[in-house]
Amino acid sequence: MVYIAVMGHGVVGSGVVEVFYKNNKSIISKAGIDMDIKYILDIRDFPGLPYSDKFIKSFDPIINDPDIKIVVEVMGGLEPSYTYVKRCLMAGKSVVTSNKALVAAYGSELLEIAKNHNANFLFEASVGGGIPILRPISQCLAANEIKEIAGILNGTTNFILTKMISDGMDFKSALELAQKLGYAERDPAADVEGMDACRKICILASLAFGKHVYPEDVHTEGITNLTLEDVKYAEAWGGVIKLIGRVKKIEGGRISAIVCPAFVKKESQLANVDDVFNGIMVRGDAIGDVVFYGRGAGKLPTASAVVADIIDEAKHLGARKYIYWAPAEKGYVCDYKDMASSFFVRVKSHDKAMTLKAAEPLFGKITEAVCPDSPKDEAAFITQPMPEGQFERALASLSSLDINVISKIRVMADI
Ligand code: HSE
Repeated sequence: MVYIAVMGHGVVGSGVVEVFYKNNKSIISKAGIDMDIKYILDIRDFPGLPYSDKFIKSFDPIINDPDIKIVVEVMGGLEPSYTYVKRCLMAGKSVVTSNKALVAAYGSELLEIAKNHNANFLFEASVGGGIPILRPISQCLAANEIKEIAGILNGTTNFILTKMISDGMDFKSALELAQKLGYAERDPAADVEGMDACRKICILASLAFGKHVYPEDVHTEGITNLTLEDVKYAEAWGGVIKLIGRVKKIEGGRISAIVCPAFVKKESQLANVDDVFNGIMVRGDAIGDVVFYGRGAGKLPTASAVVADIIDEAKHLGARKYIYWAPAEKGYVCDYKDMASSFFVRVKSHDKAMTLKAAEPLFGKITEAVCPDSPKDEAAFITQPMPEGQFERALASLSSLDINVISKIRVMADI
């Protein structure tokens, strides 16, 4: 019998227990070994549940019980998750987690500890909710040199953008609905400011390119400044605005990584990823583009990936898994200002022709962006790809001509 402890009985934790008992027969048969949840750690009381007798309020029984072979960490946040997970791995207990903050901050260290103590550290649910993505990258696509990964990695912001675009719902009401549905982080700023997507692109980058990428090294912008006018310009351009996390391999064994809202062409598979769904495009040298799509947040989709890791671990107890990445050297992630991007720029202007004429020498060749419903006192254009540092300087020069910049949004026509 394999005994499991679940740390945390919030949205994901309660989903894990629910799925584990609902599909228990087939789960046990797929694992090929009998298993049960022995403890559920949570400081709150949950009376009246069929498994209420399993609740504990202290970590001690978990770490001290040699029967516990698999520990599921679904508390979220860095502490006490980091301390508990580290202690479990050092005690040779395998850990399954959905905690992207933990993996993005301490992934290489925890993988190393797991390796040294013949345990496994599994975290399929930390990226893309229920979508299988980490195993496919590390196993099914292992023959490829991954060139880049670009994805819609946050369900809450995608849900908000979809509601704004399709239902004309305002930002605040859409966020409240996402929170009610259990998609948002405890602190929704992590969703709307892009941090959650940033942690996920860090995990994908670390796995795909073999070196740890820290969130603080990835330039991150959220969706809080987007307006319905920007959305309409994107539509007139032939696309949509999505919050994109993107990482690319560049010369010298380095990578570039960014999280930001971007214009994406309607033809892109990512453009049609709506609501709480996530979509992740992986570009390999042998396979070309492959896209993973599914529910990126929510109780049961996330639980689906956690329980799959539990099954996998129970099946291979004592055997080392395949996931590993090394610490990275300083400068491994290049400065985003050195990378070339194309931008959509919208400015206040009483004389469109003059504004565009003033912009051209600063930005190089530009294309006017037109939108049937745009306010009369505006001009908008799209630049050619240019280094972001150079773009920032051109934008400052434009502002110094008393031209007020309303928005600047990256254009990703190649994903
Ligand atoms: N808040 C996250 C999201 C939950 O909306 O995608 C899943 O990681």
